[in-house]
Amino acid sequence: MKNYIVTIVGGASSYTPGIVKSLMNKNKEIPLKKLILQDVDKENLELMGQYLKILFKDKGYTTEVTWTTDREKSFENTDFIFTQIRTGGLEMREKDEKISLQHGLVGQETCGPGGFAFAMRTIKEIIEITKDAKRIAPKAWVINYSNPLPILAEAVRREVPDSNSLFICDMPIVQELAMAATLGYKHEDLIFEYFGLNHFGWYTSIKNKNGEELLGKLRDILLSEKGMTMVDFGHLDNSWISTFSNIKEGLKVFPEYIPLTYMQYYYFPERIVKKYNHNYTRANEVMDGRRKSVYEECSRIVEAGTILGMKDSMDAHGDFIVNQAIAIAHNTKGRFMVNVVNNGTFTNLDDDMVIETFGTIDANGAIASKKIEIPKFYKALMYAQNTFEKLTVEACLEGSYNKALQALTLNPTVPSVDKAKEILDALIDGNKGYFPTLN
Ligand code: G6P
Ligand code: MN
Repeated sequence: MKNYIVTIVGGASSYTPGIVKSLMNKNKEIPLKKLILQDVDKENLELMGQYLKILFKDKGYTTEVTWTTDREKSFENTDFIFTQIRTGGLEMREKDEKISLQHGLVGQETCGPGGFAFAMRTIKEIIEITKDAKRIAPKAWVINYSNPLPILAEAVRREVPDSNSLFICDMPIVQELAMAATLGYKHEDLIFEYFGLNHFGWYTSIKNKNGEELLGKLRDILLSEKGMTMVDFGHLDNSWISTFSNIKEGLKVFPEYIPLTYMQYYYFPERIVKKYNHNYTRANEVMDGRRKSVYEECSRIVEAGTILGMKDSMDAHGDFIVNQAIAIAHNTKGRFMVNVVNNGTFTNLDDDMVIETFGTIDANGAIASKKIEIPKFYKALMYAQNTFEKLTVEACLEGSYNKALQALTLNPTVPSVDKAKEILDALIDGNKGYFPTLN
């Protein structure tokens, strides 16, 4: 069988051990000859590289591990490029969240003004990465895990339309695992249907293998005292538990479909702003939690020079990304939630929108499975959200203040043009050196 080279852009991230452990678990399906980490954060890159070298060696793998800050070099001869970039780091995530909250708006990584700011910092970088990949490793597949995913996917659709790119998100899978557990089923024994955009959509059907529709039963459980059964997939902090429990709030108002967790920000922005701690946000939780514990564990292992006899608690959290690489490598036509260009899939929406729905992945990438006519209300919500995404890309690439203002005005978490202008100016001020100049 072919041996593979995998590059991780953003390789110093605290998510890297989870992805690498998944690669190890699935080494039979995707034997790994070489792992290349690339990052701009020299210090943590060195730490992650040393840690992974020890991990592979002590677990008996022959995989070579290298690391570099030079992106072009990291693409040479590679088969897969996984991207998980965060331009400006968690420090800028903290700013996005806090600036938004200071102005009475949803302060969140990918939704609302925070998502807009994150996108403005990242759009040009993802385009460069995709272009570099095409030039240096034309056969390689770029599997993007980077956020805000739908806006980056739109940027790539627009600027590098014929690239080998996939855009994937773990949120639907985590929610499906929880919904399956709530119904008392294994995930693989259920067939879900979904329409929407990334971080913005609805489950419309959940059937078991006998074809029995279970959505009504799930709704009844979610609306009852019992609620959602949570599963451990990195989403067990209190803030995530609260996010999952808000699915119930969404169902109380619009019971026909099960909303994706992220709809809470669009349905209930005022409640979220009121409830969130404005001084200690999710970025703070992640900095003090996952980031700290992962780097501490890596440091301990690097210092000891071995994992033998050491606590090694980092789980395989990267199965989602690795499963998609396997589907490409082995041309499996496996069923996944995919982000693709609409091209008639949602029959009553524009062809040139990036949408999220179920589809298959094979050696040629992802395609949607089913044509769906979107009911009026959901169609309008999606169209506004997608137009926000498109205008954000245009604002960034054209340096247009007016388009940025239009984008934020359309975002359902922003109530007025005055508020949109106020938050835009505050974000420009807080993102000096990151945003393009907006005229
Ligand atoms: C979910 C989303 C990801 C997002 C992550 C943030 O898993 O699908 O797109 O990056 O949440 O999680 P965090 O633990 O960093 O708040
Ligand atoms: Mn996601």
